[in-house]
Amino acid sequence: MMNKYKLNVGIIGLGTVGSGVIKLLKKQRRNIKNRTGIELKVVAITARNRRKRRGVDISSFKWVDSPLEIARDPEVDVVVELIGDTDKTAAKVIREAISNGKHVVTANKSLLAKEGSFFEELAKEKGVFLRYEAAVAGGIPIIKVLQDSLIVNKISKLYGVINGTCNFILTKMESDGREYLDVFSEAKKLGYVESDPRLDIGGIDSAHKLALLSCLAFGTTLNFKSVKTEGIDHISIEDIQEADLIGYKIKLLATAEYSKNTLIQEVSPKLIRKGSPIAQVNGSTNIIAIEGEEIGTTVFSGPGAGMGPTASSVVSDLVAIASRKSKSTFLTGEKINGSNKYESTSKKSSFYLRFILKDKPGVIARLSGKLSSCGISISQMKQKPFAKQKATLIITTHKTLQENLEKALIDIKNLKICEQRPVCIEIQEFQKGSQVS
Ligand code: HSE
Repeated sequence: MMNKYKLNVGIIGLGTVGSGVIKLLKKQRRNIKNRTGIELKVVAITARNRRKRRGVDISSFKWVDSPLEIARDPEVDVVVELIGDTDKTAAKVIREAISNGKHVVTANKSLLAKEGSFFEELAKEKGVFLRYEAAVAGGIPIIKVLQDSLIVNKISKLYGVINGTCNFILTKMESDGREYLDVFSEAKKLGYVESDPRLDIGGIDSAHKLALLSCLAFGTTLNFKSVKTEGIDHISIEDIQEADLIGYKIKLLATAEYSKNTLIQEVSPKLIRKGSPIAQVNGSTNIIAIEGEEIGTTVFSGPGAGMGPTASSVVSDLVAIASRKSKSTFLTGEKINGSNKYESTSKKSSFYLRFILKDKPGVIARLSGKLSSCGISISQMKQKPFAKQKATLIITTHKTLQENLEKALIDIKNLKICEQRPVCIEIQEFQKGSQVS
């Protein structure tokens, strides 16, 4: 049985987060001991490349060559798995560690979103803890908030910006007037980007995090497959500038709502009014708003990615394990209604549309005719020259059902007047009087 005041830690993966954990444990060792009585000792480490420059001295730690060796090492009480989202070794390591009676701390949101229930079942069977504060929103302690602080609330909705890379890119595009590929390398240098960047840009990383948050917030089972997901790679600097002209910013918004046993989860770019706190979250900062029966709307904001914030969350989980605090979460979920399909609602919204069209007589008349026959009313319209015999058309609509707009876009595609796939972004209006309106 583990000594309550001492925890032997094995770290697997020494990238940005793993190196940050080593640095932080060294820097905070005395502080942690003084404030909690807990001693966290790194007893084994491993990574893909021993000699990589990390900006942290690892020479005093026991290096092992195989991650599974750490998962089986009798000296290790807790395995910190920081290999990353795309490596299949992570799943093996977590399974092996738990099977060998070790606690696990992981930041692996992709794996948890898909297999979290399985790991938690195993952890329960073995009497160990599985913790993952670093998996969502970097340094914001949102997992603990949902597991502990808000546990007595019936939560109906949560939404926010939960991918630092996309927010950094959208913010830089706006401030510097540059296209997204151009600012992407900066995000990479800062350590925000996943090893497979499509996870960030395609909205999938946000979807992983949203599925974890939904499960904890609503007490439902994990349901990653039902997250309707769209990324930011089709957003151009022109969309950002046009949004700005009508008083909005573009953000990749993650939204989950639960009511009448139905869960709706969506990640997609949205136009958000400039004055809203969500629009004002810049760079890699994340923000999460939670609507609960007792608390009303509560908003959490802070660094969503990067070495320090993520390491801070990992180490807080180690302290929690040593203090014997943990929660079973994925297992207690209520089964939710229906298939894994996104259910469209009767909610009406306005939309921003950008078309690149053939510049010929009658094109706009035919396009607006299709909008009209689907019951969609135009609020604003602007045509600009794009290139020889092509034109850009920017439209904002009055409120309409999403399914009407989807039908109109199919009808417009069939007219064969579009030179590119149109851009369509919902204009998000928050409830008046809520803290994010
Ligand atoms: N790639 C992630 C992001 C890292 O940009 O938010 C933190 O989870």
